[in-house]
Amino acid sequence: MTTAPVQGVRRETKREDSILASRAPTEWSPADSASLYGLDEWGQGYFAVGADGNLLVQPDKDGGRRIDLHKVIQGLDERGITTPIIVRFKDMVAHRLREIRAAFDAAMADNAYTGGYSCIYPIKVNQQRHVCEEIRDIGGPLGFGLEAGSKPELLAVLGLTENMPDMPIVCNGFKDDEYVEMAILAHKLGRTITPVVERYRELELLIKHAKAYGVRPRIGMRCKPSARGAGRWESSGGMRSKFGLQVSGMIDAMELLRQNGMLDCLKMLHFHVGSQICDIRQFKNAVSELANMYTEMARLGAGMDTIDIGGGLGVDYDGSQSAWASSVNYTLREYAADVVYRIKAACESAGVAHPRIFSESGRAMVAYSSVLVVDVLGRNRYSSDPDMPKVRSLIAAEPDGAPQPILDLIDAYEGAAKRDPVELHHDAAQAYDEALSLFTLGYLSLPMRAAAERLFWATGRQVLARAQGQAGGDDLHEDLQVLPEFLSDIYFCNFSVFQSLPDSWAIDQIFPICPIHRLNEKPTRRATIADMSCDSDGKVDRFACVDHRDFKPVIEVHDLLEGQTYYLGFFLVGAYQEVLGDLHNLFGDTHVVHVSLDDEGGWEIDEIVEGDTVREVLSYVEFDHEDLERSVRRDTERAVKKGTMSVGDARSLMRFYEGGLEGYTYLE
Ligand SMILES: Cc1ncc(COP(=O)(O)O)c(C=O)c1O
Repeated sequence: MTTAPVQGVRRETKREDSILASRAPTEWSPADSASLYGLDEWGQGYFAVGADGNLLVQPDKDGGRRIDLHKVIQGLDERGITTPIIVRFKDMVAHRLREIRAAFDAAMADNAYTGGYSCIYPIKVNQQRHVCEEIRDIGGPLGFGLEAGSKPELLAVLGLTENMPDMPIVCNGFKDDEYVEMAILAHKLGRTITPVVERYRELELLIKHAKAYGVRPRIGMRCKPSARGAGRWESSGGMRSKFGLQVSGMIDAMELLRQNGMLDCLKMLHFHVGSQICDIRQFKNAVSELANMYTEMARLGAGMDTIDIGGGLGVDYDGSQSAWASSVNYTLREYAADVVYRIKAACESAGVAHPRIFSESGRAMVAYSSVLVVDVLGRNRYSSDPDMPKVRSLIAAEPDGAPQPILDLIDAYEGAAKRDPVELHHDAAQAYDEALSLFTLGYLSLPMRAAAERLFWATGRQVLARAQGQAGGDDLHEDLQVLPEFLSDIYFCNFSVFQSLPDSWAIDQIFPICPIHRLNEKPTRRATIADMSCDSDGKVDRFACVDHRDFKPVIEVHDLLEGQTYYLGFFLVGAYQEVLGDLHNLFGDTHVVHVSLDDEGGWEIDEIVEGDTVREVLSYVEFDHEDLERSVRRDTERAVKKGTMSVGDARSLMRFYEGGLEGYTYLE
């Protein structure tokens, strides 16, 4: 049974409340919006608000080179490309890669480190061809490389690196005979490729194929470190992790290589403690452990020259700069400095040359560069006016008059102005619960339940308005803290959480969300977000809180205006979301648009990759569109014959059906 909220979890929106309370609508400025939505914190300088209230993208953090996201969306709309759209900024990928390069260069210079560094892009983070090609083209000159985590990914990587003998390629993941043979052949082709041994069996295959093809491969070994990350990806590391060799297995593997005269081929030690490592201390411990393993392997005669610290470099999705799951308590500079220093310290104390460092920092490379823009299709609102004439007319139609809980709710609503808000809420919640119990037991009519709802929502709004006024920006009473969420609007948006924001659904990942226009207006509503899927999980009700380690259950939004589309942006969605998304309810891939800065200080649309059509998604689940058309056509003939449909109607239906098959899977 639904019950009224009396006690809530403590979920604050303190900073937002104080920003909203400090400005009248007429005083609201774009800077207030930037502060309210935490743009400067999670945006890392890539986003700003223009004087006209539009959201600006600064792909290279240069305030003089900006892309107006709202204008991009409007321009696309004029070209018939409608939201939802993923907008990808190539210049942002380039900037991010250069930032990573610069952070490691600075750390190496500070530590007189001579081993060198390469960032290796694991293509599983976003395998879209355009993204991989951009990273290859931008990363190549920076000395960066690519990682494949499976056989299909290796085939893609080999095709991507044509005539690029120096680009480092790392092969992770479980390997069968074919995968290993392909890696050996790639070595023969001239690629700088390092297959990483995750299981003893893979080493046997490597030795077999290396001998058969007369190749001395570069071999990597993945270890199971005792150090492990924390949070969601904790199980990626540690002794019981799915991947890698135990230390005892590593010793056996080295012995096998020695027996086959190939110990000098063992060049690289690899591990991965988990993705989105929030606390720098987890890296510090893990890197030290790895570095000491590396020096031991060198001492035992392996031909070591590279240490691969895996992925995990996190992204501050909520802007709180904390060790909370959607954030990180360190900067890129601190990460690079720690990694370089710890490897150098271990190697120097063991008298081993500085190795080349690889990091597989996929998320950190691409998360920022994509924004998902969606349109709001409508909203649900819980009114502060119960419409008393309507309530009284419903009561008048009841044969036995109003039941007691309804009278209590009327009493609460009408006396609201004079009552203490907390007491008022207790009374209203009690009466509403009683009304719901009576309904469930069959003693309350549907019209009376409707009256109870109207009165309860309206009283709740009064409670909240008065309590917020009294608290003056301070905490709400604990019992009232659930009301902002309970009474918030629901904004229905044209997208699928399962297709475009899967981590929001699957692992409660928080993504920053912000309107992309009207940011010079004070937002007057608070809302949760619902998608188009017919699944109650298809919603977003956890939003970034910049000032503390928690999420908030509602986001500040503008009221919808008649005749004007309202757009929301979901930011930092470039890593994992596009490729993990699924076809729930047959909502397919969205349109993807590549936008870049031009030479005249403006921007241009480089490419539009149209999203799936209905016909395409149906074919993914084995429907043949011609079969479907034929069966609907046969039914129209039957209907014409029966006289329930005219020939003209049948033609219209078929035209509509065929058009629908070729259309976008989202609402157009
Ligand atoms: C082996 C390996 N390397 C790299 C990564 C990329 O991690 P991230 O995107 O957190 O940097 C992963 C992802 O889990 C991984 O499993």
